[in-house]
Amino acid sequence: MKRENKAMATKRKMKKIGVLTSGGNAPGMNACIRAIVRSASSRRVEIVGIRRGYWGLINKDMIPLGEMRVSGILQRGGTFLDSERCEDIKTSEGIEKSIDVLKSSGIGGLIVIGGDGAFRAATKLAETGGVKVIGIPATIDNDVYGTDFSIGFDTAVNTALQAIDRIRDSAESLQMLFFVEVMGRSRGFIALAVGIAGGANEILIPETETNIGALSQRLEKRLSKGLKSALVVVAEGETPDGARSIAEKVGKKVNIEYRCVSLGHVQRGGAPTAKDRILASELGVAAVYELLEGQHGVMVGESGSTPTCTPLKDTWGKRKELDPHLLEMLHTLAV
Ligand code: F6P
Repeated sequence: MKRENKAMATKRKMKKIGVLTSGGNAPGMNACIRAIVRSASSRRVEIVGIRRGYWGLINKDMIPLGEMRVSGILQRGGTFLDSERCEDIKTSEGIEKSIDVLKSSGIGGLIVIGGDGAFRAATKLAETGGVKVIGIPATIDNDVYGTDFSIGFDTAVNTALQAIDRIRDSAESLQMLFFVEVMGRSRGFIALAVGIAGGANEILIPETETNIGALSQRLEKRLSKGLKSALVVVAEGETPDGARSIAEKVGKKVNIEYRCVSLGHVQRGGAPTAKDRILASELGVAAVYELLEGQHGVMVGESGSTPTCTPLKDTWGKRKELDPHLLEMLHTLAV
């Protein structure tokens, strides 16, 4: 009953919601903004787009977003609100300024689309100024605790996979060993998914120890069994020196010509997959719903197809584990 009263009071009061995208862009961010605007419009709530992430909040760079303003963006990569990795929001002045801007603009709720950095700042806003904030996970790295998938991950994996399928043509035709570096600043979610879907012989990820000698021996063994080419997927976060440094060390120990390719920012661009568009739409609608129902200080997500709400603090304070079943499967399937 108490909760209902609180929710009703919030419903009455919340007339305007702000939305921003923060950190690295992820395919599907636009689809998410569209879902937020359209679902808020259907409930007669105003949406204000905050440009360039937290920078735009601190500097009051905002645009009103009506339902027609978000036409034609569903399939576009990037974020039409622009984004930024903002240093000022990490300071208490930045937080205070943001709180003042929200108050003076009559913004009753804030939706933050991004990854762990975005949610650290969102937590501070909630704790310091009582800002009613809801997070939506959007990062190709998929490393946010509290959701099986973050917006952009599926597209990045598919983009990397297309590249790997093409690279394989050269690897097989010329009997070469390829090291392919995929993104993932400090985690191996992309590498694991791409490794399984792309039939990698090995994946090197920060979550597991890499022994160059043992890796080289395994590759040599495979080559002696008749393997003509091989593929090693390396997560960017595996080594600060990059996949090339690993490739050079292994290359000295194995009897096969090798190449190293880094897929880089290609993975962060392009039209979102159907899966990412649907996830982005669902989470956008869920964020508006939760905010208007009186929920805040949480990130909306999905676990096993069930909608979830996770305290913002946990999204970056707790570690999301890799699926051990997938890791084991990779070892079983690789010859
Ligand atoms: O967090 C997403 C991500 O793409 C990481 O995988 C990568 O390490 C980082 O962003 C790259 O950031 P920047 O665009 O600043 O080079």
